[in-house]
Amino acid sequence: MRDLESAAEFLASARHGVAFTGAGVSTESGLPDFRSPSGLWAGVDPLEVATLTAFRRAPEKFYAFYRTRLAMLAKAWPNPAHHALADLEANGMVAMVVTQNIDGLHQAAGSQRVIELHGNLREAACPDCGWIGPITVVTEALARADLPSCERCGRRVKPNVVLFEELLPLDAYHQAEDACRAADLLMVVGSSLQVTPAAWLPVVAQRAGVPVIIVNDEPTPFDDLASAVLRGRAGDLLPTLAARALVRRESSR
Ligand code: APR
Ligand code: ZN
Repeated sequence: MRDLESAAEFLASARHGVAFTGAGVSTESGLPDFRSPSGLWAGVDPLEVATLTAFRRAPEKFYAFYRTRLAMLAKAWPNPAHHALADLEANGMVAMVVTQNIDGLHQAAGSQRVIELHGNLREAACPDCGWIGPITVVTEALARADLPSCERCGRRVKPNVVLFEELLPLDAYHQAEDACRAADLLMVVGSSLQVTPAAWLPVVAQRAGVPVIIVNDEPTPFDDLASAVLRGRAGDLLPTLAARALVRRESSR
């Protein structure tokens, strides 16, 4: 409980906090994460479906994996964790969400300033000529049992997500780093913090003297550098934390 109170204290005094989220913030929306026992990588080898090599050499497996993810996403809605983060932006405590997620649920919950480090499932992208277009180019081709091709160069396109073996969008990453350095709080929610360079952001913040809060239902490698660690489900903890921070801020006025 001590950590919840100190986290609420940090949040109440934040004016440009950054929330850094991973797949754990979306599991209560019905979207599996990756490294939990029931996560996506428990059933599928990421090397077979989530690498640029898989995209080029095993298109059937690659597209079958993303077709399943797109179908799950079509039935997913923001959960109380997403709504709590949108509320924290609206009341001025959180200035930005930096997410590793590609599901767009932060935006659907009302968060305005969202940096997507690993891309999104709203768009299709051509790794060869850089074309970007609507994800329907992928979904409609797959529905015809075709392989989706680029409207500009004719080569195959993929969902606009960052695959292993690809660099993440450097402008997005640098924007996220700058935001973490300039923040007065970094709140990590629902990430195992095992995939770099995104996982370095808590270190970037901590080295800049920014307090770090970690909300996760299992330990992470960075718990020791956190000023507060909240163990449990984001859909329960974030609304509680946001409510307590609001009471603290109102009572300090
Ligand atoms: N509440 C709190 N924590 C949760 C919840 C929940 N409801 N559900 C899951 N978690 C925790 C898990 O215990 C785990 O520690 O969220 C974390 C999710 O970790 P990962 O599955 O590794 O997801 P993430 O950290 O986002 O992965 C980063 O890896 O495969 C790549 O591109 C993929 O963006 C992804 C990146
Ligand atoms: Zn192209």
